[in-house]
Amino acid sequence: MPTNIFAKISASNIFKDERYLYPEYIPEKLPFREAQIEEIAYALKPALRGGKPQNLFIYGESGTGKTVTAKYVLRELEEYTSKAKGIYINCFEYNTRNAILNKLCLALGRAVPRRGIATDEVYAELLSALKRTSVVPIVVLDEVDQLVSNRNISLLLYDLLRIVEHQQAYIGIIMISNNAELLAMLDSRVRSSLLSKEILFEPYTPMQLKQILKERAKYAFFENALDKEVINVAAAYAAKHKGDARIAIESLLIAGRIAENENASKVTLAHLRKAFEQIKPRALQKAEPFLDPHEKQILAILCRHEPLFSGKLYELYCKQVKQPITERSFRKKLNRLAELNLIELSDVSKGIRGRTREIRLKQPKDAIERMFEDSQGGGFHSK
Ligand SMILES: Nc1ncnc2c1ncn2[C@@H]1O[C@H](COP(=O)(O)OP(=O)(O)OP(=O)(O)O)[C@@H](O)[C@H]1O
Ligand SMILES: [Mg+2]
Repeated sequence: MPTNIFAKISASNIFKDERYLYPEYIPEKLPFREAQIEEIAYALKPALRGGKPQNLFIYGESGTGKTVTAKYVLRELEEYTSKAKGIYINCFEYNTRNAILNKLCLALGRAVPRRGIATDEVYAELLSALKRTSVVPIVVLDEVDQLVSNRNISLLLYDLLRIVEHQQAYIGIIMISNNAELLAMLDSRVRSSLLSKEILFEPYTPMQLKQILKERAKYAFFENALDKEVINVAAAYAAKHKGDARIAIESLLIAGRIAENENASKVTLAHLRKAFEQIKPRALQKAEPFLDPHEKQILAILCRHEPLFSGKLYELYCKQVKQPITERSFRKKLNRLAELNLIELSDVSKGIRGRTREIRLKQPKDAIERMFEDSQGGGFHSK
């Protein structure tokens, strides 16, 4: 009898369980972040008695463990008490004041339609939800820079701080950013009432990266599945990229998959080098899950025809989609792609015909193309 196809391909001598290498996995231990974990926990401690937590501003380079550490502490907090509730918000996904207030309502058990409701009404809902609960929400605003570019953040923080001042309901606010200067960019009134404590996440050293990798690999790979130097080389590579643990962990995952597809008995340095080539730039990786089909279509056209003037780009776009958006909405999409650091817009003079914008990709073309291969055109709607 022929063997089942999945039985045949699922046997692995490489991965025990690759999920331990996924970006969303929260490890049981976070080596070298003990001090930060403790600092965050102390700031949140008042919430255990229904009191007012200290607000936090967490900052540092990419891959220094800011997100995973915040999630780790929230998990611990919720395991320990039902008096506080962690609400994690990625501002790539929720990038307006309205969307965030909405999400907070939802997290507190109030469903509000996501569109078509004025921000003031959503705010009123949030206040009434808070009145009825004794739980202290701890709101994590990750990638909070995404709000600054929309000039939204001061207003949003003002909303949240007002709750604390007038309603005697307490909320903890944890902001996470790559940008150390972010607080300085806030409205001064908001900044002074925020009174937040700052926590810096330093880049990992090569030795630390090695240790982190060893720990994660222990659960993900079978013993002896990694060639001797693989962890060292992955750690050194990540150290060169500003101590980014994400690069280290992702390169092991990709290398493991390449080895598996080749039916190799071990992950070798050759697999790892191939993996390095496939790692997506951080800007692309962060933005990708939140790109809509129109934005993806624009990137796909640019992959084939860059650079393009905006008029020509819109024309090509209209030819390729079933229901094109208006030129005005299209311009907004271009601005957003530029804010996400995926494209570059430069003003150029077209002589007597005035000015136009020239558009180029800001991330490597092959990385963007790979994104389309990975999603197999998901969300695409070409004619
Ligand atoms: N100390 C650690 N131990 C184990 N894994 C870690 C540690 N620090 C970071 N990681 C892992 O490294 C990856 C990157 O971490 P994380 O996403 O928290 O970085 P970040 O600082 O939020 O980066 P960015 O600013 O780009 O969002 C994740 O997969 C995370 O689980
Ligand atoms: Mg992060």
